[in-house]
Amino acid sequence: MARNKVTVIGAGNVGATTAQRIVEAGLADVVLVDIVEGLPQGKGLDLAEAAPVVRHDAAIIGTNDYADTAGSDIIVVTSGIARKPGMSRDDLIATNAAIVGGVVKAAAEQSPNAILIVVTNPLDVMCHVACKASGFPRERVLGMAGVLDSARFRTFIAMELGVSVADVHAFVLGGHGDTMVPLSRYSTVAGVPITELLPADRVTALEQRTANGGAEIVALLKTGSAFYAPAASTFEMVDAILRDRKRVLPCATLLQGEFGVDGLFVGVPVVLGRNGMERVFEITLTADEQAAFNKSAAAVAELVKALPA
Ligand code: NAI
Ligand code: 2OP
Repeated sequence: MARNKVTVIGAGNVGATTAQRIVEAGLADVVLVDIVEGLPQGKGLDLAEAAPVVRHDAAIIGTNDYADTAGSDIIVVTSGIARKPGMSRDDLIATNAAIVGGVVKAAAEQSPNAILIVVTNPLDVMCHVACKASGFPRERVLGMAGVLDSARFRTFIAMELGVSVADVHAFVLGGHGDTMVPLSRYSTVAGVPITELLPADRVTALEQRTANGGAEIVALLKTGSAFYAPAASTFEMVDAILRDRKRVLPCATLLQGEFGVDGLFVGVPVVLGRNGMERVFEITLTADEQAAFNKSAAAVAELVKALPA
């Protein structure tokens, strides 16, 4: 049986770390692509040379040539410019739209049946760009953000209550921006909603830290943005798809009426399997939660309008 093949575009922090996770788990062979000559080749060779020590036999190469990506099962898009201190995700829009549109077109031509996982920011808007550039159906265009934002929320909940992250579950919906919607009512420790475990002001503080989670890391690093948790989150989506796990994960998907939104990529829980986004997993929202979700979707819609034609 042929091995799975994953192309990771962008050999920077998120891309290289995602590639490392995939090969070291033996999940798929990886082709790492970047526009900078030598960078993907160097990182690819370095990762290949780690294989005897780590003891995996997945292959990894780096390249600047999309012909090497042909026949990929998944294409992960991380190419673009990362946030710098003081820069919002939205400032990135014009530059990254041109980069994402170009790389997706080139990669989709080589792998017309692949599933796209977009990581580049502003995330929800870049999903629109990738969807248009590829011509792929919505089932095969997904954005990674909800897994990361939910992981951050889970981390902060576990820290607050002094419990293992393994027993914490959380959902963050909406766009990957300041208006994201941490759903505390559906966020639990061993099945108990955190709204029953913590006073309202602490719940609000954890929600706010989650919404500010990306900026918190940027402010600390000063020279770039988060990549370990983003790479781990991207890996979780790749794993769910390639192993057909039917995981229920929050991902950006093109809504077609679900959650009252039509024609927009926004983060919602979906079932992820070998066919990509197999089903939107609709959950009931209170009036306040729906209002917050609508506000977040409206923020995404504003950015989509700002996309160059
Ligand atoms: P980075 O700067 O380390 O890597 C980006 C790479 O893209 C660079 O190696 C660059 O040479 C490459 N690149 C630029 N233009 C290209 C092109 N036309 N073709 C191929 N490669 C090209 O940045 P990092 O930290 O890896 O972040 C990547 C993107 O992911 C950023 O937009 C960042 O904001 C976003 N991000 C999104 C997250 C999410 O939750 N959706 C989480 C973390 C980062
Ligand atoms: C993050 O949330 C930069 O969007 C990225 O860390």
